[in-house]
Amino acid sequence: MTDKNITSLTIRQPDDWHLHLRDGAMLKAVLPETARHFGRAIIMPNLVPPVVTAQQAVAYRDRIMAALPAGSDFQPLMTLYLTEGTDPADVAAAHAAGIATAVKLYPAGATTNSASGVRDFEKVRPVLDKMAEIGMPLCVHGEVTNSDIDIFDREAVFIDKVLKPLRKKVSDLKVVMEHVTTQDAVDYVRDNRKNLAATITTHHLIINRNHILAGGIKPHYYCLPVAKREIHRVALVQAAVSGDKRFFLGTDSAPHTDPNKLMACGCAGCFTATNTMSCLAEVFDAAGALPKLEDFTSLNGPQFYGLAPNDDTITLTKGAPVTYTTKIDTPDGPVTVFDPGFDLHWSVTVN
Ligand code: DOR
Ligand code: ZN
Repeated sequence: MTDKNITSLTIRQPDDWHLHLRDGAMLKAVLPETARHFGRAIIMPNLVPPVVTAQQAVAYRDRIMAALPAGSDFQPLMTLYLTEGTDPADVAAAHAAGIATAVKLYPAGATTNSASGVRDFEKVRPVLDKMAEIGMPLCVHGEVTNSDIDIFDREAVFIDKVLKPLRKKVSDLKVVMEHVTTQDAVDYVRDNRKNLAATITTHHLIINRNHILAGGIKPHYYCLPVAKREIHRVALVQAAVSGDKRFFLGTDSAPHTDPNKLMACGCAGCFTATNTMSCLAEVFDAAGALPKLEDFTSLNGPQFYGLAPNDDTITLTKGAPVTYTTKIDTPDGPVTVFDPGFDLHWSVTVN
């Protein structure tokens, strides 16, 4: 059977290495969408106020566990939000106790709730040195925030101006470049074998900047880093389907209510938790690369984080277009599910 003729695929249960769950009523509404298919997820700490300390991470993890549907085995992997006041000892203790899997670096002002992020990278050097020593990964939102840098160039400039110098200074630090959107980032990861990996979102494998801007503005496709030109999307697909161990799924599924998306200054984020596995199967199928899907969603991530893959499996089956909820109701308003712009033929069964 050629790859194009595959109609059923059983793979290890996937993990999501970059996820926004929020808190309160929103958490309760969106968590089942991820827990339905995924075994684990790296949980982003950009709440208001952010999850900075080990104690805050424990409390947030407890709220996530309490919001899980009955019988779910989903496991949240917590992150700490890096600030210029973060205590290296607190980070190390949280890692040793299994409370925090990684630390998240937001350059101040880069995206949603990033005001407490890092302005002066020298101020966080002691934390980064400690993390390198204990083997704790740093998840990086890789965009500069300077107003004079064009928004479409902010990732490439970040690599040159921030990431390269930082990785030279703390060379033993394990770094995940999150939600990469450019050929530049793909090339940088490919050229650097040691301690570096990248996550790729579902939506950046599907949309380019025309989807956001051509023929009328589409706020539901607006996220950060913003989708780039088609050549960059193609580079991301090539990286994802390559099986290269340094690339794995981090959906960056980021719920905002429709009123908060559809306004003069709308929020950044695509909500893909609901249909991510069907979308990815479609992308890998179109690329003739279905046998590599498991590497991307279920094997490469755990390997980088030093964890075992999930024991459970899921089966993807190709057939008539699948139906899925297009809006998640929350007490704050509906959250629109990502529309890939094409039919999804792959249904998902958890075995
Ligand atoms: O589009 C995004 N939304 N990018 C981010 O980095 C943050 C996220 C959010 O929290 O809404
Ligand atoms: Zn994110």
